[in-house]
Amino acid sequence: MIRRLMKVLGIETSCDETGVALFDTEAGLLADALHSQVDLHAVYGGVVPEIASRDHLRRLLPLIRRVLAEAAIDRPDAVAYTAGPGLVGALMVGSGLANGLARAWGCPVVPVHHMEGHLLAPMLEEEPPAFPFLALLVSGGHSMLIAVRGLGEYEQMGTTLDDAVGEAFDKTAKLLGLGYPGGPALAQLAEDGADDAVELPRPMVNRDGFDFSFSGLKTAVMLEVRKAAERGDLENVRADIAASFQRAAVETLIARTLKAAGEGGFSRVVVAGGVGANKRLRQDLKARFDGDVFYPRMQFCTDNGAMIAVAGALRLADAVDAGNIRAQARWSLESLAVPGKAA
Ligand code: KG4
Ligand code: ZN
Repeated sequence: MIRRLMKVLGIETSCDETGVALFDTEAGLLADALHSQVDLHAVYGGVVPEIASRDHLRRLLPLIRRVLAEAAIDRPDAVAYTAGPGLVGALMVGSGLANGLARAWGCPVVPVHHMEGHLLAPMLEEEPPAFPFLALLVSGGHSMLIAVRGLGEYEQMGTTLDDAVGEAFDKTAKLLGLGYPGGPALAQLAEDGADDAVELPRPMVNRDGFDFSFSGLKTAVMLEVRKAAERGDLENVRADIAASFQRAAVETLIARTLKAAGEGGFSRVVVAGGVGANKRLRQDLKARFDGDVFYPRMQFCTDNGAMIAVAGALRLADAVDAGNIRAQARWSLESLAVPGKAA
């Protein structure tokens, strides 16, 4: 079989980051550009969907021009875009433009599942994981353990019963008076605190199965913050609370991951999604897992265009003619199929 070399443009607009990248099936990543909307949403303490859509519209074309110029090409051979899950208005911008450009360029489009993008992000690294592996997907919207037998063969072993872990980081950060997005700021503050200063629960770690729950931990932090505020010394214990929360959250994730890896017989674990940028999680899992742990580089843990471009390249068998603007808020990862074998 002759494999055609393809240059795939990846477009990510599911939330508050406009990401564009160009991936070559032979040479790898050629160019990557990102515009973060963090400053726009910070004043509101969270993502405002309408503002997100409008900003994607403003940023997307200039980013695409920049990426094509950097790679010194006029047009790609295929356009991959995030078709869901995410904010529908934001997804529509990426989907609409991807389809419009592909129609103009006369090339096909590949709709990509955002979480499959995260899951495949380590494929951009020099030593990509081989299948099968266990994936810990931890972002602002998801906390999932996925048994990955091959491309498109995903079985959910566990998920969160309430808040996603990124959401727990964001809400805890808010309680501690840190800005949006809270995860990185909380991790930063935790560096100055003692992680055993405040006793917090490790939710679910002794329960059967592999599900997560973070609302109990969040409530426990809220009570600690309230107590400290009543004592008048919240300022002195903020860092301790941040460090103790981070430790509890990370230990919970690691305990469930080790259990799932053990029961599923996995010797490889992939960590992806925004919370995968957490240093403590990266270090501790690597130290405690008796196997290989794979992470995307830091900038490809949070939302980006490169993961969509590489997922699109791996899913070229699913490429379709431009024209069907696909944008779905909800989309189960398990419903995906092996490339070329529509579900
Ligand atoms: O994957 P992502 O960029 O967007 C979603 O698809 O949700 O993940 C964003 C989440 C936010 O909740 C953010 O606070 C969290 O990832 N996050 C972190 C860190 N960096 C980002 N959480 C903990 N530690 C970090 N270093
Ligand atoms: Zn994401």
